Amino acid sequence: MQRFEGKVAFITGASAGIGRATAERLASEGAAIMIVDVAAEGLEETARLCAEHGHSVDHRICDVSDEAQVREAIEACVVQHGRLDVLCNIAGILVLEHFDKIPLDTFRKVLEVNLVGMFALCQAALPHLIETKGNIVNISSTSALAGMPYGAAYGTSKGGVSALTRTIAVEYGGRGVRCNAICPGSILTAMGSDGTLPEGADMKLVSRAMPLDKPRPPAVIANVVALLASREGSHINGEEIRVDGGTLS
Ligand SMILES: NC(=O)c1ccc[n+]([C@@H]2O[C@H](COP(=O)([O-])OP(=O)(O)OC[C@H]3O[C@@H](n4cnc5c(N)ncnc54)[C@H](O)[C@@H]3O)[C@@H](O)[C@H]2O)c1
Repeated sequence: MQRFEGKVAFITGASAGIGRATAERLASEGAAIMIVDVAAEGLEETARLCAEHGHSVDHRICDVSDEAQVREAIEACVVQHGRLDVLCNIAGILVLEHFDKIPLDTFRKVLEVNLVGMFALCQAALPHLIETKGNIVNISSTSALAGMPYGAAYGTSKGGVSALTRTIAVEYGGRGVRCNAICPGSILTAMGSDGTLPEGADMKLVSRAMPLDKPRPPAVIANVVALLASREGSHINGEEIRVDGGTLS
């Protein structure tokens, strides 16, 4: 399928995991892409993998929690490609700590990266998305849907992502811009596998059974990003799709 022929996608958190899988997926379906991340090495590797599909790939170091960098990166994308059709907000960080031990600075940092950065990206991208009747896909988390022990900062940030998604969906749907979120769980990435629990964590609180046979690779999220971002998703707006093997069912 070439659902993104002639389209331009901007993808954050593209150095690894779900961001890299999404970049590869959209590039393989014809999109020209701009990928950003703070991790230079992984970003170059993603750019190399995407370039194999023969479409334009730009990469740029951009800390999503830095508003100036965010605005410059979106503008650079539009200058380079002349348009912007899809914004994929995937960059994120996870901190697991007992609620009463999370320093306020850590709480703020998680919100800055996972939520405030996403807000700035959406704001910078929206004028361009209105022109193309484009759309936004935000990566939230199952922690936005149910309590996540030791994840007060992370879960709060993702709850904000869900609210931000719905707000943009209703405010801009009339101008042709859709905004949706995906809530992943049990995805095999550095973050998904390395969720280091704090000392003294109560395993009874954290062990939720997953009905499916095994955790799955980030491509299963990229599949859903591609659906939401493509014409096939044209009547989906303000939705949160849980992709977690049924864990929260
Ligand atoms: N893996 C899972 O099971 C899972 C579950 C729920 C939600 N998620 C979400 O999926 C998204 C992708 O995570 P992943 O699992 O691929 O993990 P990952 O750690 O492999 O990827 C996260 C990427 O974000 C980048 N990043 C971190 N801070 C950044 C910043 N300030 N600016 C720009 N880039 C930054 C990292 O360098 C990394 O490349 C995250 O938003 C995460 O919260 C993942």
